[in-house]
Amino acid sequence: MVDVILGLQWGDEGKGKIVDFFAKDYDVVARFQGGPNAGHTLYVGDQKIVLHQIPSGVFHTNTINLIGNGVVLDPVTLKKECDIVAGFGIDLKKNLFISERTHLILPTHRALDKAAELSKGTQKIGSTLKGIGPAYMDKTGRNGLRVGELLDKNFTTAYIKLRLKHQRLLDNYNFAEDITAWEEEFFEAVEFLKELNIVNGEYFINDQLAKGKRVLAEGAQGSMLDIDFGTFPFVTSSNTITAGVCNGLGVAPQKIRDVMGVTKAYCTRVGGGPFPTELENETGEELRKLGSEFGATTGRPRRCGWIDLVALKFACMINGVTKIIMTKADVLDSFKELQVCTAYSIDGKQTAEVPMNMGKMRIEPVYKSFAGWDTPSSTAKTPAELPATMKSYVKYINDYLGVNVHYISNGPGRDQLIGIDN
Ligand code: GDP
Ligand code: IMO
Ligand code: MG
Repeated sequence: MVDVILGLQWGDEGKGKIVDFFAKDYDVVARFQGGPNAGHTLYVGDQKIVLHQIPSGVFHTNTINLIGNGVVLDPVTLKKECDIVAGFGIDLKKNLFISERTHLILPTHRALDKAAELSKGTQKIGSTLKGIGPAYMDKTGRNGLRVGELLDKNFTTAYIKLRLKHQRLLDNYNFAEDITAWEEEFFEAVEFLKELNIVNGEYFINDQLAKGKRVLAEGAQGSMLDIDFGTFPFVTSSNTITAGVCNGLGVAPQKIRDVMGVTKAYCTRVGGGPFPTELENETGEELRKLGSEFGATTGRPRRCGWIDLVALKFACMINGVTKIIMTKADVLDSFKELQVCTAYSIDGKQTAEVPMNMGKMRIEPVYKSFAGWDTPSSTAKTPAELPATMKSYVKYINDYLGVNVHYISNGPGRDQLIGIDN
């Protein structure tokens, strides 16, 4: 069976740490969507690692890692990351597999991302500029190049043809940056990539499942950044939700068992777009400071606010979440009072549903207030050691969502995760 770990908010919920924690219980960890826009942080000893392309199970020598067909892959980022991981003694020949159907991010995709964002002016998405949108556009536009094609002798010709197409678009944007250095890096990285394990991902994973192996699918971004269900157009370009596991890996829906949804105990967003519970005040600053809320990929400050149960319940619904994992509970340790958004007030009317065009509305969050625990929680190792007020906060969230929090993360460390009996 396949279990899934994915983000329920706007990304950066702590998926990397959680996947790394559970990876030892699985034979395969597979990324099913997204690309180097992701930044998944985990710790090996006291060393902080941020993974962008490689699944977060890679530091477990008995776990195979698969980059699925639903991912968009930048060979340059992959090569850099492989060098870091290999430095830890990980044998990538044994540990890392890449689907031949995975689409490639070309240097011109990055250039197009930059040009398109610039042209949007104040309406810009706040893209990570990693070429994600243009690469997925070439996939759905039936132009893109896939990893399997790297092994074809006509690859360079196909590359030049697509590059010319991109150049015309770049000229339209008046994009004048010289990307020769990007292309040199790209071709160097392509040679490296060709030496890795390139496989037929869908047979590979289904063979593993047929042998009774345990598979963990790792999501990138978050449900509110999903191309269909997120805060469009301020979203990413892939399906970040459970359904994305099926088309991003080639596994059938009935193979999916647990869907573990990760949420912070509060909420953050990086980039543009609606964020009803955002706190543009001292409390928001405090959350940013205490939670070290700066992007793992771009270093940008993350926008911070209270937990939004309206959006979370929506995410639980579209993902079929079976278990919730709440991260960064320790970040709330010093707050005297906490707020939880239970409804949206739009034009004087209350609703507990996520509207389709959030970005165009004035949404006032309706809050329920909670006493903070106002006590350190990061040294707790068992549920009994967690503050009672934290437990009532979690109990309210369980009841609202109709899905229970099964784990509470109380620090960034590998061992800071506490299982809760429900
Ligand atoms: P991801 O993209 O979902 O993997 O999340 P990121 O790695 O972008 O951001 C999560 C950040 O929070 C990282 O810096 C983690 O080290 C950190 N983190 C994860 N869980 C916890 C936690 O429970 N408490 C604290 N204080 N930090 C955490
Ligand atoms: P992880 O996997 C947080 C955001 C960007 C931007 C929008 C579109 O680390 O949770 P894109 O580069 O996809 O064109 O950007 O989505 N975004 C993320 N925000 N975490 C991520 O990944 C993100 N990946 C993209 O900031 O607003
Ligand atoms: Mg991240």
